[in-house]
Amino acid sequence: MNRKLARIRNGILAIALGGGALVAASSAFSFDPPVTVWTGVYTDVQADRGMATFTSRGCAGCHGADMNGTPGGPGLVRGGFPLLWYDKSVGEFMDWIVANMPPGNPGSLGPSEYADIVAQILRANGFPASETIELTPENAPGAMITRATP
Ligand code: HEC
Repeated sequence: MNRKLARIRNGILAIALGGGALVAASSAFSFDPPVTVWTGVYTDVQADRGMATFTSRGCAGCHGADMNGTPGGPGLVRGGFPLLWYDKSVGEFMDWIVANMPPGNPGSLGPSEYADIVAQILRANGFPASETIELTPENAPGAMITRATP
């Protein structure tokens, strides 16, 4: 296992151990039964907001305006992502970002700002938009990142 994967695995384990109560408490607002990212779990309007926030809050400085990466940060399309996140939930992905990004000041954006950015990352990776459903910290745990339509 390479170091990056190990670090992400450890992060997910920490979330699994520490976040159980939180996930259980918010499950009433999750997709029930669980859905996948192929059914549409964000809107285009939300992803547009996410792109603006990604730029204004400095993420683009390291990950690139097109999300293809720079020497300071990995690309968020193709390659590493979403490979590392397949068979995890969007909630786990969002929790990892909140806990780790931006480096040195994690958790410094608002919950809806993080959700909007995740919406844009999903769109940039080709997962379809919904007409109506916005991604939220509450419903994200009920949406699975899978390789193909169920
Ligand atoms: C100072 C540079 C820098 C900034 C600013 C930054 N990142 Fe990162 N980001 C990184 C680095 C380096 C990694 C790889 C670290 C790791 O895997 O532990 C990373 C990893 C990630 C990943 C995981 C990629 C994967 O392959 O799984 C995501 C998602 C992410 N960043 C999103 C964000 C968001 C959203 C913001 C803005 C709130 C942000 N980053 C700001 C440098 C940065």
